[in-house]
Amino acid sequence: MNTASFPDRARIDARDKVLGATVYPGDVPVARMLHAMMVPSRIAKGTVTALDISAAMRVPGVVRVLTPDDFPAPPPVSENGPPPPPPTLEWRVAYRGQPVALVVAETLEGAIEGAEAVRPSYAPEPFAALIDSEDSQRDPGEDIVFGNAEAALSHATTTVEATYVSPTQHHNPIELLVTTAVWESGRLTIYECTQSSAGTRGATARALRLDPAIVDVKSAYIGGGFGQKGGIGQRQTALVAQAAMLLGRPVKIVAPRSQIFHLATYRPHSRHHVRLGADADGKMTAVVYDVEQEQSRHGFFPNAEYHEATSRLYGIENYLGTAADIRIDRQPPGWMRAPHPQAACFAFESAVDELAHKLERDPVALRLANDSRVDHRTGNPYSSRFLNECLEEGARRFGWSRRTPEPGSMTAPDGTQIGWGVACGAYPSMMVPAIATLRIGADGNTRYAVSGHEMGQGIRTAIAAVLLEGLEIDSDRLEIVIGDTTAAPQHITAGSWGTAGAIPATAKAVARMREAMAELLAEREIAGNLHQKLATVRRPFLQIEVSEIGPGQGPEALEALRRGAYAVAGPEYPSFTTMSYIAHFVEVRVEPRTRRVRVPRVVSVADCGRVVSPRTAASQVRGGVVWALSAALREATEIDPRYGGYLNNDLADYVVAVNADIGEIDVGFIDRPDPLANTMGLKGLGEVAMVGASPAIANAIFHATGKRLRELPIRIENLL
Ligand code: MOS
Repeated sequence: MNTASFPDRARIDARDKVLGATVYPGDVPVARMLHAMMVPSRIAKGTVTALDISAAMRVPGVVRVLTPDDFPAPPPVSENGPPPPPPTLEWRVAYRGQPVALVVAETLEGAIEGAEAVRPSYAPEPFAALIDSEDSQRDPGEDIVFGNAEAALSHATTTVEATYVSPTQHHNPIELLVTTAVWESGRLTIYECTQSSAGTRGATARALRLDPAIVDVKSAYIGGGFGQKGGIGQRQTALVAQAAMLLGRPVKIVAPRSQIFHLATYRPHSRHHVRLGADADGKMTAVVYDVEQEQSRHGFFPNAEYHEATSRLYGIENYLGTAADIRIDRQPPGWMRAPHPQAACFAFESAVDELAHKLERDPVALRLANDSRVDHRTGNPYSSRFLNECLEEGARRFGWSRRTPEPGSMTAPDGTQIGWGVACGAYPSMMVPAIATLRIGADGNTRYAVSGHEMGQGIRTAIAAVLLEGLEIDSDRLEIVIGDTTAAPQHITAGSWGTAGAIPATAKAVARMREAMAELLAEREIAGNLHQKLATVRRPFLQIEVSEIGPGQGPEALEALRRGAYAVAGPEYPSFTTMSYIAHFVEVRVEPRTRRVRVPRVVSVADCGRVVSPRTAASQVRGGVVWALSAALREATEIDPRYGGYLNNDLADYVVAVNADIGEIDVGFIDRPDPLANTMGLKGLGEVAMVGASPAIANAIFHATGKRLRELPIRIENLL
């Protein structure tokens, strides 16, 4: 394996973005376009008994109001088939804000006014809006068990036990949910900000009973994905697609943020009861960890995955993890950056800090002493693991050795309480198959098509780094086509596997192209770059195709990719486990009178294997830390138990961290290739970046104030 570091390169799309020239799905120019707006349900559960659309139809510009009668019945659920697509319009209401009608108009204003004029009648039913509501229903999942945790816990010399809470939190990427559907000559083209263009094609085809072969989905750029735009598709997609087909004109929808709060997935409220034991030497020996999360009545956002990172952060040999859903009447929760480890590691890494305090051990030293080469969950070795290196490098950069351990001991002269905290994160490193086509032209153009979605994380920049390292081509005329079902088979981009999915295939394409070039030139010495060489030998273009699969995968993975299905390998590979790691060091300052918490500096050092794109990788980590700060100190969705909706459903009331909240974030990488995970030695980064930074803040607040706060977000009122 080539293990050389990659040079720092600017983002290839930065200039266009700054100029506003990037064409997001909402910007695609389409002629004769109609605008759509959804009508949200005003009840949380029950039935729509009638839909009076007469007033809406009188609004100038309104051309049609779609109701549940305009849609086919939901497809039958198949045991081993793909997950059911999001429902279309239905007379049954499962949650407040569920769309009950779609108004289509010549203008956006007409669509908005028309949607407000639709008068649904309802037969409401009792509902449960909160995890503690009377009619909520507990639905236990499967346990994660290895070793004998209860026995080991009873032998532990020191134990800690506590409950931690993470609130309901909503995604708020700047880009809203946008879909434009075009029906033309028997083909349906959907432009949508989605992390899963093939998944959107499949779900829309199933919902509307179409042949997927006539559906194309294009998602060239996304203005922030984070899981909200992944999953099994967005509920609005089939609605506007049906409208476009019924009306024979393109239809576009931009869901307003208030509707997105009620419509899209979110990070569910979760409660974590942790019992953690250590022996006299400070070796952590046992964990019993029970977690429960809010869940919709039929939602399938998994719960066992809360144990994915916590069972592999340290070499703990005895683990009992339980997980349960608490089913209520809200829309389904879903994947939101670092979906489970964000909340799980807040709980677990707070507990480890509590243990360190009780043992009177330095929290960095305690973690260093609990390293492991083996994944005790499977008995297999880790393919690579540099968590201790992250801790050591982070401690060095942060100046951790100057910390005095006693809480409240680092007060500044003006009475400001200073706290230094540490916590770690882990996240599964997964891989997906890819099929790529590379074509270099004598005219100076290069076109590369592969599976992947650009959501701002910089996947195009990482792909370009590998192409430009290995091939002498014109970087200005390099087109990287991703997120497009017409260009290459597309896999959902999520779970931090974007780079591992696209980059090994890209490296293979580079190698194959170099071979093809060498064969074509047959040892002739020709001057110039590859375009000039092709021109000299009068070859209009050279094109190659390659495919790549994950460890342990076979041809069936490529078949699944071609079908638009899910084909994820890892983190448990046949003979090893692959996890990414990070250590965060945080300084907080708590003002003596206002109790305002500031975070002037953070040091985060990550082990994501080999770093392919230093610029975007560092940016990913900074973004993850910013969101973890926001999750720790700001964000919580306020649920209205009376009506089942969300009260702070806009950016004025749903408080997120802003520039003024962010201090220095120093990012480091171990940058050592993983020898087994893939041919490029890289591991996932996008999500591990966030994991552990929230507990590092909570631990720093404990160190500053002596107050152990176990529920997020931590706000001024909790520190009075
Ligand atoms: Mo991610 S939350 O898997 O897009």
